[in-house]
Amino acid sequence: MTRALVTRRLAGDVMDYLAERVEVVAPPEDRPILRRELLALAPGARGILAMLTDTIDEEVLAAAGPDLAVVANHAVGYDNVDLAACERRGVIVTNTPDVLTDATADMAWGLLLAAARRIAEGDRLMRRAAPWEWAPDFMLGREVTGATLGIVGFGRIGRAVARRAEGFAMRVLVHTRTPVPGAVDLGHLLREADVVSIHLPLTEETRGMFGAEVFGAMKRTAILINTSRGPIVDEGALAEALASGEIAAAGLDVYEREPEAYPALLALENVVLAPHLGSATVQTRIAMGMLAARNLVAVVSGEPPVTPVVSR
Ligand code: DGY
Repeated sequence: MTRALVTRRLAGDVMDYLAERVEVVAPPEDRPILRRELLALAPGARGILAMLTDTIDEEVLAAAGPDLAVVANHAVGYDNVDLAACERRGVIVTNTPDVLTDATADMAWGLLLAAARRIAEGDRLMRRAAPWEWAPDFMLGREVTGATLGIVGFGRIGRAVARRAEGFAMRVLVHTRTPVPGAVDLGHLLREADVVSIHLPLTEETRGMFGAEVFGAMKRTAILINTSRGPIVDEGALAEALASGEIAAAGLDVYEREPEAYPALLALENVVLAPHLGSATVQTRIAMGMLAARNLVAVVSGEPPVTPVVSR
């Protein structure tokens, strides 16, 4: 039977679907697979169903050997997979677009509202039973309705975030690599936006793109949201911008060096920190697992992948 390495236990239906079609090889415990386990379990696999926390590089591909036909990534992002090495070896790479668009856009909005209205900060205040009373100037945040939202990267998730902004009567500015009618240059967006939300893939061009210079170009009242990939933001520079009041607040779901956040961020009240929860709903995670599994099974059965990654 065709051997498939599944690096992390997935929902029951997904595991059943796979087990009926391939011989599933998995690490002994339900935790991130160790590098040495990945290398030890890869040989002979026709497919690898990988998490975004697994680095799939030349070494893993070489360990898997010539039978490997597909790396089915359990994420829409695929910066953990060496696409060039896969292409050289004729290994198809797939991802999980569409099924997580709404959940991730909802998360961006959750962070946006939490940062603008100081919800997490207020929650911390209540939990430590700090004295407080209603006052006209108590814990004032920033108005979201009617504000200007700047979306950097206008793929599926960026568009879904923009659609939600209609309900808040926001003006939406878009900056994107691909020509979109009405898109503006980044400088214009940074000057005008009350909220800047990042929806870019992690590439060599976008790594560290949001640093001191960008924060200096934003309004002092602006809020930064990142639900895409952590290394796009220079967390040290962000901590300085938040501490000095160069920008007003931030909401982060992703980090440069997950699972850690830059230590100075932890001491700041004006940043909301979530532990990479963008796609973390029951429904979305089942859909992601099933799509990754269908991609793997399709390729190892000689059929076209459902959602192949198209190299940029
Ligand atoms: C993805 O799919 O790339 C997300 O980051 C998973 O939460």
